[in-house]
Amino acid sequence: MKRHPVFAFLYDRLARAAEPWEGAFREGLCGPAAGIVLEVGAGTGANLRHYGLATRIVAAEPEPNMRRRARARLSEARVPVALVAAEAERLPFADRTFDTVVFSLTLCSVQDLRRAISEGERVLRPGGSVRFYEHVRSDRARIARWQDRMTRPWGFLAGGCHPNRDTPGALAAQGFGVRLRRFLPPAPGGSLMPYVIGEARLPSDERRARQ
Ligand SMILES: C[S@@+](CC[C@H](N)C(=O)[O-])C[C@H]1O[C@@H](n2cnc3c(N)ncnc32)[C@H](O)[C@@H]1O
Repeated sequence: MKRHPVFAFLYDRLARAAEPWEGAFREGLCGPAAGIVLEVGAGTGANLRHYGLATRIVAAEPEPNMRRRARARLSEARVPVALVAAEAERLPFADRTFDTVVFSLTLCSVQDLRRAISEGERVLRPGGSVRFYEHVRSDRARIARWQDRMTRPWGFLAGGCHPNRDTPGALAAQGFGVRLRRFLPPAPGGSLMPYVIGEARLPSDERRARQ
């Protein structure tokens, strides 16, 4: 994958600066993530300190500069973490390995959204859940059009990020039942970049989880 040393440096700074408001969302995302957890695109490791119920974490991150920064934060985690060089579209894990798969501000950046979701599904054990925290396409047409226009320059500056993806729609299109909360982040330009936080399960797993 393309290397992004400057973005890795800036992203780490921005994620640390955002922690006062974003920490609560990261906690909401990771706190309930149970069992053996895979975080796809773990970046600089901003989530590691927020995992509470996990017994073990596999943090997959393909970009070496991001991985180096994540390695420096491994001691922040309360449970063992294995940091692995891997891409969302080609996860080097057997089927049904993980209890929880976490996507955190990652599905905006993967090259192939559909493939990343189906890989997440493949490595998820029956009854497991996908937990996500992502910025997404606006449901206001005017803002969504602006996001479309911004996609190229934004992607250039932000490590290949797409501001205009309908990620919940993509999860639903692949058969997941999706529960989510939408919000606008309290950050500059937040109204142009709506966020979602939620959980996705396969319908048969949803029934099993309720039993
Ligand atoms: C905006 S950062 C988010 C990092 C972290 N998950 C967080 O919540 O702070 C997006 C991350 O996705 C990673 N990424 C980009 N393309 C990817 C892919 N195809 N597979 C897995 N990760 C990818 C990037 O290297 C980067 O670390």
